[in-house]
This record gives sequence, C-alpha cells and structure tokens, in this order.
Amino acid sequence: MGFGGKFADSLVVEQLDKISLSFLVDDLEIRRGGVGANITFGLGQLGLRPVLVGAAGEDFADYRSWLERHGVDCQSVRISESRHTARFVCTTDPTGAQIASFYPGAMSEARLVELGPIVGRVGEPDYVLVGADDPDGMLRHTEECRQRGYAFIADPSQQLAFSGGDLIRQLIDGASILFSNEYESHMIEQKTGWSAEEVLSRVGTQVTTLGKDGVRVQRAGQPTIEVTAAADVTAVEPTGVGDAFRAGFLAALSWDLGLERACQVGCVLAAYVVETVGTQEYSFTASEFLGRLETSYGADAAAEVGRHLS
Ligand SMILES: Nc1ncnc2c1ncn2[C@@H]1O[C@H](COP(=O)(O)OP(=O)(O)OP(=O)(O)O)[C@@H](O)[C@H]1O
Ligand SMILES: [Mg+2]
Repeated sequence: MGFGGKFADSLVVEQLDKISLSFLVDDLEIRRGGVGANITFGLGQLGLRPVLVGAAGEDFADYRSWLERHGVDCQSVRISESRHTARFVCTTDPTGAQIASFYPGAMSEARLVELGPIVGRVGEPDYVLVGADDPDGMLRHTEECRQRGYAFIADPSQQLAFSGGDLIRQLIDGASILFSNEYESHMIEQKTGWSAEEVLSRVGTQVTTLGKDGVRVQRAGQPTIEVTAAADVTAVEPTGVGDAFRAGFLAALSWDLGLERACQVGCVLAAYVVETVGTQEYSFTASEFLGRLETSYGADAAAEVGRHLS
C-alpha cells in the first residue's frame, strides 16, 4: 500500500506506550510471490513441468489455478486447515519509509511435508531445490534428500539473515549446487565459519549472482566461469530476479546444456523480470526469447537453446 503522508508526522514519541495508528492509503497492489512459486513459474514459462512443494492456506485456490495454467504441478502443496498462506504486507510513504509485516502462517507446516511420497507420484527428481521456507522444513527436506540420495540444491537466500551457522552448514553441506547472490555468499562464509574454499569443497557447484554484473560459477579445481548479464536491459523493478535466474539456469541443466549456457539462459529470463513490476508478470514467445539470447550471447547460444524451446 502507498500512504501519501509521512509516517513520521503521525508518530508521537511520548505516546509510544499507547500506539494506535491508522493510515488512509491511496493505493493497494496485490502481487504474487514466494521463491518456490517464482522459480517454478519461470520453469513453466520455459516449457518444463516443475513440482511445487510447500504449504499454503485455503486461500491458495486462485494462486493454484494461476500456477497450474503456467505449467506448475501444485498437487503436492499441503493445504493447512487453520492458517492462511504466508504473506508480506508493506505500506510505504513517499520518503521511502516502510511499515511492514511478514506472516508465515501455513508456511510453518512445510515441515510436515515428506518428499518420499511426492517422488513416488512424479518419479525420481533431477534436483530438489530447497529454497527459503520454514527453517525446520528446509532442514527436514535437506536431510531427506541426503538419506534418499536425491541431488539437492541449497538456496537459503532470505533465510540466511535469520539462521545461525549450525543450520546453514546443515543446509549446504553436500549440495549439488549452492545458489546465492554476492552479499549472501559473504554471509554464508561469515556465519558458517567456512572459508570460500571450504564452502566450495562442500558443494558440487557454487553459483553466485552479481546483479547487473551477471554471474560467477565456481567448482573446486576448475576454472571460474563468468557470464555477463543480458544486453539491453532497462531495469524497472528487481524483485524476483534471483528466482528467475535460477529457473533459467535449471531449465538449461535439464536440457543437458553446459554451465556457461545455463548462466546465459538464467540471465535472459532474469532480464524479463527486472523489466517488469512483479515477479510473475512477464511472458515471451520462443522466438523472442531466442532473439534476446542471440543478441546477448551469440547465434550458437540461440541455436542450442532453440532445440529445446517450443
Ligand atoms: N540491473 C540488471 N540488469 C540486468 N540483469 C540483471 C540486473 N539485476 C539483476 N540481473 C540479473 O539477475 C540475476 C540475479 O540478480 P541478483 O544477483 O541481483 O539476484 P538477487 O540479489 O538474488 O535478487 P532478488 O533476491 O531480489 O531476486 C543476475 O545474475 C543478472 O543476470
Ligand atoms: Mg535473491
């Protein structure tokens, strides 16, 4: 919501023990989000059929039909009987001040979801990506991957700020891929107490996104791969770019393309998100996507990806 006045003018410092504030807002926008939904939406846009795992409330019905229309399998989303879907509610004033709340709600029930029966339904997964979620749920799903031998991807993002070193170590150790942005990669080192080399030694591939500067991919004992961001991008609103990058990167891996190509596909998908307001408001035809890929990374990239995009 957008408040036209200044929050600071409504706060009476001597009265903080009996706060009762109400703001008449001029603007309300409701946007879809959630890292799991954003990433699976992106995979769906590239023609894949990802399985969304998590917990939502009875109010999930509309969101479910939106995601299913865009290729996401939502059958394994647990629906809570007592709590609403997680949501972030934020009011901003013209000075950029914010009053916000995050309601985890049904998200806390993610810890009750077992992966085994889902794999029984859909078959062995290429990867299980464990994104920011209920921390107990993240831990349980990571553990289950280790026990059952599913390749897993650690993508703790927003949860890093709230997690201690012990939890982060358990979420990352043995991951096939570790995703983070540059800031988060430093937070991982700081909180786990592992050096950059040690983090790398504990994961198969470390993918670090660098905002407008693109992305870096590292594997122990191999040369670092750096890929620049897509060309001709007009940044409008960055929320969800990281999720879109992951979707593109993972789609390319599922097509058996190499790491450099995967970064290129990720950067082009991210470009669509940074150019729109909202995380799932973009669309493109296969030829538009391939055209952008060619402009940014050349004809070979477009030809190789074109064999998989329809
Ligand atoms: N201004 C930009 N111009 C072009 N590409 C961008 C820009 N910002 C981000 N990207 C693309 O998106 C990818 C992910 O960006 P970034 O590293 O900012 O992720 P993030 O910090 O996880 O974002 P968020 O958490 O807000 O989704 C980058 O690797 C790049 O390809
Ligand atoms: Mg991010």
